[in-house]
Order: sequence, then structure tokens, then C-alpha cells
Amino acid sequence: MTTTITPVIAGNWKMNGSRASLSELQELAALLTTGDAPRAMVIICPPATMLHAVASQGSTSGILAGGQDCHAQAAGAHTGDLSAGMLADAGAQYVIVGHSERRADHGETDPAIRAKAEAAMGAGLKPIICIGETESQRDSGHAEAVVAGQLAASVPDAAGQHDVIIAYEPVWAIGTGRTPTNDEIARMHDRIRALLVERFGDKGATTPILYGGSIKPQNAREILAIENVNGGLVGGASLLAKDFYTIISAV
Ligand code: PGA
Repeated sequence: MTTTITPVIAGNWKMNGSRASLSELQELAALLTTGDAPRAMVIICPPATMLHAVASQGSTSGILAGGQDCHAQAAGAHTGDLSAGMLADAGAQYVIVGHSERRADHGETDPAIRAKAEAAMGAGLKPIICIGETESQRDSGHAEAVVAGQLAASVPDAAGQHDVIIAYEPVWAIGTGRTPTNDEIARMHDRIRALLVERFGDKGATTPILYGGSIKPQNAREILAIENVNGGLVGGASLLAKDFYTIISAV
């Protein structure tokens, strides 16, 4: 792990959780405020219905809140959508954009994701921009090219001045219990780092690159120790306070 970058552990609750899940948040807060202070910055991205509660209840224990998606426009006739400004108003400091489930379920393209990331920055949020290849793209030897293409097209030029986070999430590893080998993760993160430095210089050298896809308490320590892995984006294992805390502690 590159020492000059503060590690980030972000939990993506996806479409899970209700007000009852706030007990998990309280348990996590208690764990985080008892032992040694965590080395990682801790973010939880709950469903939007719980954003305000997570942001206000998490703040006393240093837990930051993030949205899971935002619209590219600031306001208007977009039934069911939320703008980045609304997420910020509810207490978010981050927002995930371009998650593979949004790319697959809602046909989100790289330019659309770039526009969302720009909207997020405009509203004062830090976007967590997700990229990652499918299984067939990896099997056909195109993983690096796909990821490089997504990085080029979905990360705005303004990332040279604003803070953004990149999350590399191989689609086939999400929610499957399968992960790439440590060598495969290292190779992809090195490649992403090189591309970020090439495009953004010093800013690219300090942009956090998270790994996501079946991070569990059992594999967190070895994955998070890989060079250029600056933290993790955690789905399933972020839903239980104890598991998420074990992952945070693995940094
Ligand atoms: P997972 O999800 O940890 O459940 O594989 C990761 C993600 O989709 O961000």
C-alpha cells in the first residue's frame, strides 16, 4: 500500500437495509471508538432513504456517508432520481458512480458516468468511480484494455484538481465469493496507477485506488497489503458490523 495515501474502506449497502439496520451502524461505531483508531477512512453508502440517519449518527465515530448514485443534472423533471446536491444536503460527502450494477441494470455508459462524476464534484462530493471487466472480457484477454478504456472515458478531466476515488471491481468477483489472484489485482492496480499518473501527474499518484469484489474478513488482510491497493469497496461484508470492522482493522 502506498504510504502517502490515506486508506479508504467504503461499504456499499446496495438495496439492503432499513432503519433497523442502524443498530449495525451503532455497533460499528462502538467498535471503532473502543480499540485503536482505525488507520482507514471509513465510508458507508446506504440506500438514500437512510443517508441522513447514517450521516448524522456516524459523524460522532468518524464514519462518513456516501450515496450510491446521482443524477448528472442539479434539479428538474427526473422522477425518482436524486441529484448530487440532494445527497450532499442529506449529509453525504461521497457518491459511488458507475457501479457495474448500474452499468448493467440501467445501461449507464462511460460518458454518462463521467457526467455524474462531474455533477458530484460540482456539488462538493467526492465521486467513487467504479470500473472493471466482465468475466468474458477477462477470459478473452481484454481486461486491461477494458479497464483502461473505462478509466479514460468515465473519469473527468477535473479529477486533476478535485479529489476522486477509483474503485477497480472485476464484475465477476462481485457477490460471487471469487476474487482475482493477488498477482492479477497487483497488475491491474499498477496499470491504473500508471494511467492516472500519465494523465493527472502528482494528483494521479495520490488518487486512492480501491479494490472491490468479494472482500471478506478472511481475505482482506492480503488484498489490502497489495501495492497500489489503497483500500476496498465492500458490498456484502459491509452489512454486518463485526465483519466490516474486521476488514477495516485489516488495513
Ligand atoms: P461484494 O460487492 O463485496 O458483495 O462482492 C462489492 C461491490 O459491489 O461494491
